[in-house]
Amino acid sequence: MSEKTKDLASQLTAQGVDVVARLSIPANIVVQRTDRPDLGDFQTNAALAAAKQMGRKPQEIAADLAAAWPTDIAEKPSIAGPGFLNFRIADAALSARTQAIADDPRAGASTVESPRRVIVDYGGPNVAKGMHVGHLRASIIGESLKRIFRFRGDTVWGDAHFGDWGFQMGLMIISLEDELGGLDDRKKLDARLASLTLEDLEANYPAAAAKAREDEAFRDRARKATAALQSGEPTHRLIWKAMREVSMQAQKRDFAALGVDFDLWKGEADVDPLITPMVEELKRKNLVEIDEGALIMRIAREGDKRELPPLLVVSSEGSAMYGTTDLATVLERARDLAPDLYLYVVDQRQADHFEQVFRAADRAGYARREALEHIGFGTMNGADGKPFKTRAGGVLKLNDLIGMAEEKARARLRDADIGSDFSPEEFEDVAHKVAIAALKFADLSNFRSTSYVFDLDRFMSFEGKTGPYLLYAAVRIKSILRKAEEQDADAGPVEVSHASERALALALDGFDAALAQAYEKRAPHFLAEHAFTLAQTFSGFYTHCPILQAGFEATRASRLTLAAATLRQLESSLQLLGIATPERM
Ligand code: ARG
Repeated sequence: MSEKTKDLASQLTAQGVDVVARLSIPANIVVQRTDRPDLGDFQTNAALAAAKQMGRKPQEIAADLAAAWPTDIAEKPSIAGPGFLNFRIADAALSARTQAIADDPRAGASTVESPRRVIVDYGGPNVAKGMHVGHLRASIIGESLKRIFRFRGDTVWGDAHFGDWGFQMGLMIISLEDELGGLDDRKKLDARLASLTLEDLEANYPAAAAKAREDEAFRDRARKATAALQSGEPTHRLIWKAMREVSMQAQKRDFAALGVDFDLWKGEADVDPLITPMVEELKRKNLVEIDEGALIMRIAREGDKRELPPLLVVSSEGSAMYGTTDLATVLERARDLAPDLYLYVVDQRQADHFEQVFRAADRAGYARREALEHIGFGTMNGADGKPFKTRAGGVLKLNDLIGMAEEKARARLRDADIGSDFSPEEFEDVAHKVAIAALKFADLSNFRSTSYVFDLDRFMSFEGKTGPYLLYAAVRIKSILRKAEEQDADAGPVEVSHASERALALALDGFDAALAQAYEKRAPHFLAEHAFTLAQTFSGFYTHCPILQAGFEATRASRLTLAAATLRQLESSLQLLGIATPERM
């Protein structure tokens, strides 16, 4: 990595490491962005840390450090309080760093030193159940993490891991059996399967699930049907295939509308052929035992705070369970993709399930426990603080949610008198982008473990920390750059000096660290935060620093470069959050 692609904090830290070595000061020096911008742009507490060990006054050490510190990047550091060093970046160094960002197609983002192979398991829709709002966060967060990991240089696969193999399939099969009065009439069955729609499945599933809860005989039949399906009974397979196809097509449409896209559309059923040999091997290795007719693997460990139940590998009916398919999927992924890292972006409420599966995979030798991570998240709640439901009390379908958001976006655009001169197609395209930006940014602007309240009015506002605000900010810069082109105003070398120019340059410098943090914490929130800060800082800059009306040509040229760099970084950030920007609005 060349010096110029390193952010200012890294450049200063590198200088600090040099300085302490020269002065033989025992300090692990880190220079950071300050939270006291009145005192400087960056700071370090290295002197305080070293003081204890050296038995010297921190202020004295700080004075030594300040005297020895090179003054090319920052001006001579000042000492504050008990011995903090504060740095103000020199205009020339800040301009050079900003120029490097402006010249960089990656807008100042570095890549990881040793790229890894990463699988991101997210989305996780189920056959028959339709996609509902519960899948929204998994899809939004997973999509963004996939993009962030890829952008940092890893080889990444996103896998939808379709829920197509469990008890719900048995339920759906017997409910069809009851509807048709049996499955023996092949003609009747074929005709019904040919007319099957997602609406049929979505209407039947809740009823069947409710019946299974109350009616033991029905539940039993569903269990047997699940086992029959898994053992390859042809009629069951035929029905399963038809239902899976109908669901998958509809879900592909919903995901596309949300701007979510998978490299792999695999499902639980895909590992079916692996299960029998896997179970045999687990038996041979003595990793499983029989417990009340079922086959289980114990995964509890000494020192566990709570007792974790064993992983149910084969039920007493002979069925593979949710955990079984997940375990076999680790095996399959290890064999086919050899990932260094497995990320499971799934609701926090499934934490125990994943802990069981991960420990089982580790015991079986399929993947190391450290390579398996459950990326949990909180729920999107209604005003009552409980997981979001429709007014009628049902689960909201993703498709309807997107429709609702688009409706609101159209109204907002009309209120703001945006798009009255657009063609109907362009207006619809912008409304769709605003809707998706609102939903996604509202989600990603929270740390993933935080639950948040669904509030479409707030999500859709053009003011405040919202997706539409960010789109508007990006579009505004596009329009400035278009105007510059019309006026033949050229961009030129960056020269920052005005406080608002400096603030913007420092904000641009923060991209790489935000990206690295989002990557390390598996939390797009850090990037969302950066995008918002950048947009806000640009807005301040634009208020105080006229661009096209700037008095000097060199100033105008520099400011145009700043604007273009901001746009590129803002669009990159939004793109990594899974948000597309319109050309105008
Ligand atoms: N289909 C599951 C659900 O709706 C989520 C799947 C998550 N991924 C996994 N590998 N288990 O709850």
